[in-house]
Amino acid sequence: MTGPTWAPLPDAQHAASAVAALHRSAFGGEPDGVWASPGRVTLIGEHVDYNAGRTLLVALPYRTVVAARRRTDDQVQVVSAQERHGWTGRLTDLAPGRLDGWTAYARGAVWALREAGYDVPGLDLAIDSAVPLGAGLSSSAALVCAVAAAAGSLAGGADLLADDAGRARLAGLGVQAETIFVGAPTGGMDQAASVRSRSAHALHLDCRDGAIRHLPLDLAAAGLALLVIDTNAPHRNAGNAYASRRRTCETAARALGVPSLREVVDLDNALDRLDADESRRRVRHVVTEIARVGAAADLLTAGRPAELGPLLDASHRSLRDDYEVSSRELDLAVDGARRAGALGARMTGGGFGGSAIALVHQPDLELVAAEVDHALATADATIPRPTFLLGTPSAPAARIC
Ligand code: GLA
Repeated sequence: MTGPTWAPLPDAQHAASAVAALHRSAFGGEPDGVWASPGRVTLIGEHVDYNAGRTLLVALPYRTVVAARRRTDDQVQVVSAQERHGWTGRLTDLAPGRLDGWTAYARGAVWALREAGYDVPGLDLAIDSAVPLGAGLSSSAALVCAVAAAAGSLAGGADLLADDAGRARLAGLGVQAETIFVGAPTGGMDQAASVRSRSAHALHLDCRDGAIRHLPLDLAAAGLALLVIDTNAPHRNAGNAYASRRRTCETAARALGVPSLREVVDLDNALDRLDADESRRRVRHVVTEIARVGAAADLLTAGRPAELGPLLDASHRSLRDDYEVSSRELDLAVDGARRAGALGARMTGGGFGGSAIALVHQPDLELVAAEVDHALATADATIPRPTFLLGTPSAPAARIC
């Protein structure tokens, strides 16, 4: 049996030249610039963003890059290194709806900027992504945010990358592109992670008011690594299940007389007041997960990241048993990582397939990956082999060339 497969980790200069070459071959001539925006993992704080909760996020070293050039007419052309079909149309053709296909995200970013009053010119956009698609690592947020950063900058929107206030606006445009233009529900944390993070830090996002804190998470200095396990398992029914979890939370908040589950102060009392076992379990996940984020933030603030393990484990159990968004592959990956000595492990992202993370002592990284790979490879024939990535807290959206 071959060993674990690791995703290549492109450096910024290499990624910028590759996407500029794609731009030249698709459109001729040099781009005006290259912009990048990363994927993310949730360190802890899952399915709490749409409940006005708080969450801890890490921007990944895997990014989507966009080479962009202004045109003198009102055409928009989009091509991608990963996809055969691109899109060509006019700025005035951009209209929201329930849209399919990857180009909808790129078009949505341009549309959201125009809706917000940016004078976006016609554009030639070439896109390349090192964020695995459909792996729960926010490839869609990386795409909308990279295109919004590129198109916004070429529309004179220097404010969007200038400071955190501008970045918060940029994240908001990414959310509008996804929710309104594409029609894909998202609670907003993915876009914030992609544009408001800081390298060697976790982003603490309070989804009630959008406030952030950068908490130190220099894994190398602590002798730690964050292993990301992309199970390569297809999302099953994720859209409907996500929407139904959200509805259950909203209905429970109404029944409890609070604007959101963030405002539940006495969990036992709240659980007593809910009839359905399913609602009780969903509420228990949300309320306990928000509390775990608080405890994790305290550990990071105190410079004790190695102690996060039990919180990560508890988060996974809660997502598996109470929120019911894990999958067989994710559970196997998490259990395998723990058996191999990970300090803690959990699924990350929306769930139903996708990825898990494991916090490990740096020297154990390869060993834990090998054990997880073996656990998945020998489980049964229907389970794909995973791909491994590094969850090093990295830089947010930026112009890179
Ligand atoms: C998806 C959504 C996010 C968040 C997570 C679950 O990634 O896009 O907004 O709700 O699921 O934490």
